[in-house]
Amino acid sequence: MNSTPLVGSPFTPAQEAVLKKWTTFYPHKEMGLIEALRSVQEWDRHIKPEAAAYVAELFGLPFNRVWGVATFFPSFTTKPTGKHRIGLCHGLSCWLAGSPLMAQRLQATLGVAEKEVTKDGRFSWEEMECLGACEQGPALLVNDRLQGPATPENISKLAKELK
Ligand code: FES
Repeated sequence: MNSTPLVGSPFTPAQEAVLKKWTTFYPHKEMGLIEALRSVQEWDRHIKPEAAAYVAELFGLPFNRVWGVATFFPSFTTKPTGKHRIGLCHGLSCWLAGSPLMAQRLQATLGVAEKEVTKDGRFSWEEMECLGACEQGPALLVNDRLQGPATPENISKLAKELK
C-alpha cells in the first residue's frame, strides 16, 4: 500500500491507511463509510469539509453524499467536541427523570453552554435523543459509554477525574 499522503490530504499516512482499509473491509465499499467517518470523528473530534472531501474521493462518492451522512448522524459533528464528549439524554423518560436539571448542572460544573468546549479542551456536553437506557434516566453518556443516571455527584466526579 502506498503510504505517501495524497496532495492536500488532511490525514497522516497512518490515518490514510486506516481509511483505505474501510474501503475494502465490507463486501460493498460504501458499507465502510460510517466506520471511516467514525475514525475521522475520533481523530479530529469533528468532520471538516476537507476531510469529508478526501473520504468521498477515497470511496468514489460525491462529496454531498458523504457530507449528508456526516451531518445526519448525531455521532458526527461538524464543530469540534471536547476531548471528553458528554451526552445527556433529553428523551421523554429522561426528561421526566430530571434531565433539565442535570443539563443546568452540567453547564454550571463545566462552565460552558451546550456544544461549547471548555477552555482547556477537555469537555463538551450536549443533549441527545433516546440513548436506549430509559430505565437509567436521566441517562449520561461519556465518550460513547453509558454512565447510568446523571446525578450532581457523578457530574462533579467526571469533571474532576477525567483528564
Ligand atoms: S429517553 Fe433517555 S435513554 Fe431513553
